[in-house]
Amino acid sequence: MCGIVGYIGHRQAAPLILESLRKLEYRGYDSAGIAALHDGQVTVRRAEGKLKNLSTMLLREPMTGSIGIGHTRWATHGRPSENNAHPHRAGDIVVVHNGIIENYLELKRQLLKRGTHFSSETDSEIVAHLVAEKVAKGVDFLAAVQRTLREIRGSYALLFLNRRDPTRMIVAKNSTPIVIGSGEGEMFIASDIPALLDHTRKVAFLEDGEIAEVTLGGYRIFDGKGKPIKRPVKQITWDAVAAQKGGYAHFMLKEIHDQPRALADTFRGRIAFKDGNVALEDIKLTVNAVKQIKRIHLVACGTAWHACLVGKFLFEEIAGIPAEVDYGSEFRYRSPLMDPKSILLMVSQSGETADTLAATDIARAKKAKILSICNVIDASIPRKSDGVLYTHAGPEISVASTKAFTTQLTALYLLAVALGRKNGKLKALEARKLLRDLMHLPHWIEEALKLEGEVKTLARDLLHSRDFLYLGRGINYPIALEGALKLKEISYIHAEGYPAGEMKHGPIALIDEKLPVVVLAPRDRYFEKTISNLKEVESRGGKVVVITDDAKTAAEIPAFRVLTLPKASHYLTPIVMTIPLQMLAYYIAVLGGKDVDQPRNLAKSVTVE
Ligand code: M6R
Repeated sequence: MCGIVGYIGHRQAAPLILESLRKLEYRGYDSAGIAALHDGQVTVRRAEGKLKNLSTMLLREPMTGSIGIGHTRWATHGRPSENNAHPHRAGDIVVVHNGIIENYLELKRQLLKRGTHFSSETDSEIVAHLVAEKVAKGVDFLAAVQRTLREIRGSYALLFLNRRDPTRMIVAKNSTPIVIGSGEGEMFIASDIPALLDHTRKVAFLEDGEIAEVTLGGYRIFDGKGKPIKRPVKQITWDAVAAQKGGYAHFMLKEIHDQPRALADTFRGRIAFKDGNVALEDIKLTVNAVKQIKRIHLVACGTAWHACLVGKFLFEEIAGIPAEVDYGSEFRYRSPLMDPKSILLMVSQSGETADTLAATDIARAKKAKILSICNVIDASIPRKSDGVLYTHAGPEISVASTKAFTTQLTALYLLAVALGRKNGKLKALEARKLLRDLMHLPHWIEEALKLEGEVKTLARDLLHSRDFLYLGRGINYPIALEGALKLKEISYIHAEGYPAGEMKHGPIALIDEKLPVVVLAPRDRYFEKTISNLKEVESRGGKVVVITDDAKTAAEIPAFRVLTLPKASHYLTPIVMTIPLQMLAYYIAVLGGKDVDQPRNLAKSVTVE
């Protein structure tokens, strides 16, 4: 997730773009850059690190031009560096990009054959070259972009400048937001509304597959076939803070709703569907190396540890590799049996959690291979790893982990399929089925999010409960733990997660009419057993809330409330089940007047032991 800004008008572009980028820094902040066009010359300034570095550079070396584009980056392809920072330039063309070009390797190979020289490791630079090649041959700027869009696959908001054409910017969109703002004799483009609010409240949103030409006099929008489209201007009424949260009341809610996009970005460009394979660019394990793996040690903290518990099922059942799960704070002080045939797999949103990071010393000493799943590019954990799988969730601002968790589950699923294919446990046909399921996942999540109204009502009903029990079985037991953690950390209400079958060994004593018991009951091999467990709770007066995916029997389940989710495939059910639990925790905390995004005593990244 990156932030894009464009300007054409009567003012100096660079300072205005810089200010607007500040409003988008929540979308990414590992490097930034601006390009401005003046007197037939393009100037590009780029700096690694937060925007203040670019700002210092601009003070030292100001730039002139009343048309320009800017970018704040959250790296996906290529580590954060000045070279990988946007804008990227090729010939007369300069581009900024937010998204992922799925077929970039194939396109890059073709460009290399034609003698193209690349100056970055990004997928975005290829787009600049593709357009520049056409423009150099005399193709009109707009037509060159239109033709290039037919060659690329993936998600993008792309914004182009042409050195020889100071009258217009071209912008294109697919699966990534971009908005055009109209001012008085000036026009603006941005990834999100907060970047425009200081200048205009009149906006037009581009839809997927559309392209727009933006000039001093306004904009023209075209569909994928080049047919002009009328798009009425909208008047934005949000204040600046609400706008940064995308109109949501809190970042947590925004991040919950961002999950369909985040999950799609995690698998985008990594699925080779035809052969049932998964391409993990930064995990280079040969077939031989994978066949030698005897055990995976998953290490993490908090929510990421819950993801690892699901990961154990995935690695053992999909890839046939035994797996163990440890808390970072425990692993570092025990003597795990590891050797060069072991893998340490650390899972961390921030990549900076000290207890998780400590596992690397043990693994190195035992000569085990070190892998990680992480959201932040080039954080300490990926830097200490031999291979990494980035989740592409984009920055997560709320302390409570939501989209980071579900993208970790998605990454673990991808890794399990990749390893299963390499060690021969998983046949191409089965792998294709698993990958097809994965491609449905964003849709199932969209469906699950539609339960929001029902969950809010439920939150109101349960608001005054002082304790909660969450029950799940098998691959969904970790989701019960996650549901309980989410509630605890943002509402300060005591909650426990338990394997449903264990209840009779102790926790059943807690049950009375004041205790809500949230039961995860997907239609799986445990379904009947779970229903028996919930009857035990019901008959003792407990307030049972059932979350199921079995629409047929939902009405017959004896419970205080039943929430029905779409039926997802078995290994993806934990991700879908997570959604109502996130929303339940969120609404109970909001209704209880809690500081949802910054709960007391907690930090987003725990860098001390
Ligand atoms: O950045 P990490 O994923 O390594 O963080 C691990 C935990 O601190 C984190 O998941 C924490 O439990 C969250 N606040 C949970 O919402």
